[in-house]
Amino acid sequence: MAEPLLSVRGLKAGYGDFQALFGLDFDLGEGEVMALIGANGAGKSTLLRSLTGLVRCGRDMVRFQGEPIGGARPDRIARLGIGMVPEGRRLFRSLTVEENLIIGGERATGGAWTLERIYGLFPILREKRKNPGTALSGGQQQMVAIGRTLMSNPKLILFDEMSLGLAPVVIKDIYAALPAIIGTGVAAILVEQDVTRALSVAQRFVCMQEGKVSLAGRPAEHSRAAITAAYFGVAH
Ligand SMILES: Nc1ncnc2c1ncn2[C@@H]1O[C@H](COP(=O)(O)OP(=O)(O)OP(=O)(O)O)[C@@H](O)[C@H]1O
Ligand SMILES: [Mg+2]
Repeated sequence: MAEPLLSVRGLKAGYGDFQALFGLDFDLGEGEVMALIGANGAGKSTLLRSLTGLVRCGRDMVRFQGEPIGGARPDRIARLGIGMVPEGRRLFRSLTVEENLIIGGERATGGAWTLERIYGLFPILREKRKNPGTALSGGQQQMVAIGRTLMSNPKLILFDEMSLGLAPVVIKDIYAALPAIIGTGVAAILVEQDVTRALSVAQRFVCMQEGKVSLAGRPAEHSRAAITAAYFGVAH
């Protein structure tokens, strides 16, 4: 079998003395979309931070394209091709939309995503390109955050809380852009409160509970009741 793009084995991590992840195992193939679901505090963000080097973990706990990257520095991991759209967007407040996008591409070594392509994906950003990022609506800021990450031409893109706090109409727009993003061959891990929506776009899912994988597989393999039980931790 071909080497998976991402391979997580026995991943443990936490904050100081506080352990948040208790031995996670899963693989993700090239171009695959994985929904990462679980209740508040389950450890979803901590997992994404471990994959991007923001939270420390053992070297062999995370392999990307066969290379052990657990605990590597965030800039090295970004250069290898893992990009994150963080929760809360985190745009540079003093910069324009276009400057935010350009900064995202600074380390890129070529690839499908250019400013033009981002503007094609989210036309509103072309109109607003000279505006400060902070003058945009929440949904438009999320589009900039996604565009900025795409500008680095990642092989794997991590979305933490893709639609949190956004109006339904905007969420629809952002999800409408997802096929065009995935169509370029990038793999994705999607953390999303709206489980139905996340499962509808994902080929695979991992459900976490209290720092462990409580259920994983393909959405169609498991009943909705089993997924709900794995999410909330009730027996079924
Ligand atoms: N910076 C931090 N310092 C200490 N503990 C933290 C920190 N961030 C998260 N935690 C703790 O780690 C555990 C996992 O939190 P995490 O944020 O990864 O969960 P989550 O699944 O992303 O939750 P949410 O749905 O609320 O975003 C929780 O018990 C949380 O309180
Ligand atoms: Mg979180």
